[in-house]
Amino acid sequence: MQKILVTGGTGYIGSHTIVDLIQKGYDVVSVDNGVNSNISVLESIADIVGRSVVHFDGDLCDLSFCERIWAEHPDIEGIIHFAALKSVGESVEKPLIYFRNNIDSLINVLDLGQRYGAKAFVFSSSCTVYGDVKESPVTEFTPLQAAASPYGRTKQIGEQIVEDTLKDAKMKGILLRYFNPAGAHPSGKIGEAPSQIAQNLVPVITETAIGKRTKMMVYGSDYPTRDGSCVRDYIHVCDLASAHTLALSQMLSGAQTTSVDVFNLGIGQGLTVLEVIKAFEAESGVSLQYEIGARRPGDVGAIYSDNAKAQQVLGWSPQFDAKDIMRTAWAWEKSRSK
Ligand code: NAD
Ligand code: WQD
Repeated sequence: MQKILVTGGTGYIGSHTIVDLIQKGYDVVSVDNGVNSNISVLESIADIVGRSVVHFDGDLCDLSFCERIWAEHPDIEGIIHFAALKSVGESVEKPLIYFRNNIDSLINVLDLGQRYGAKAFVFSSSCTVYGDVKESPVTEFTPLQAAASPYGRTKQIGEQIVEDTLKDAKMKGILLRYFNPAGAHPSGKIGEAPSQIAQNLVPVITETAIGKRTKMMVYGSDYPTRDGSCVRDYIHVCDLASAHTLALSQMLSGAQTTSVDVFNLGIGQGLTVLEVIKAFEAESGVSLQYEIGARRPGDVGAIYSDNAKAQQVLGWSPQFDAKDIMRTAWAWEKSRSK
């Protein structure tokens, strides 16, 4: 069994990816410092896959901690690097914390991976690297623009660090640019459980529906879109997870000829905020309390992906749609609120 290190393994996308990797026959080592997740997620993963996962609890910015992981697991063949801080607003207030955490941890993991001869490295990037796009769908060739936040800049810099480090190296790299991850595992056992207050649309919707919030705001109704609210590309977290497994296998099988490749991961269609709300209401039967408010600073009016490259090269095809996202996100909200 090929051994894969998953950093940010108890986080939202990391936990779903661990499940997918194990179910597809990989051996997984997880690492997380719990800054935005709970170690109890490991029990839920074990419940789903039927066995426990080796886990290291510590900070990847600490090089000696990273060295301990590799000393115990010198045979790590692939790395999926999810660990990062991801709050856009917080990154504006505390940019150095974001640069230090997201860049130092990346450098350490790349360094150890190379020293111990890992063959594949997947980096969690984001559609935020495209900046304030004027047209969608965006392809991997759409030029990147200035990032709107220090968080976004850590993703742009991170991509460059991976490209520079792996140029002509034995270890191959893949940059995965996620659009808007949402939904939860169909088992209802894992989902998004941030330590901080939810800011992303789908968890805000489910928290409103369950009564954790009295109402929610729709940020802006005067964008040049179908109904005036923003358009985004919501991709189910299990579809993201399967793309990571495919990306690893692409590199580990020797099929990737370039040093580093890049893929958009989105469903390839845009939904407005009001359409998302309607989809949730239809799926859950709950009528949402919402108000139309002002635009949120920094929001792009519309962005959605062209995902043809991931479909063609990785053989990936999203299996879940907006209804599945709403159904699984709602089931998860109900189960974690018990
Ligand atoms: P998450 O916060 O749920 O998971 C990230 C995990 O990394 C957390 O469990 C956190 O505790 C851990 N972590 C952070 N810094 C660490 C450190 N120094 N050492 C060890 N562990 C550390 O976030 P997520 O939604 O699962 O995102 C995973 C990755 O995908 C991140 O890199 C994020 O920037 C990127 N991404 C997320 C989204 C999204 O909307 N969720 C979109 C695009 C890209
Ligand atoms: C989606 C839409 C809001 C909350 C963020 C990051 C991006 C990437 C994905 C990490 C927008 C609207 C939201 C609410 C609302 N993350 N909204 N009311 O901003 O597209 O992307 O997550 O890399 O970098 O910026 O996602 O879920 O916050 O917002 O009307 O209470 O929902 O205005 O149009 P966003 P989001």
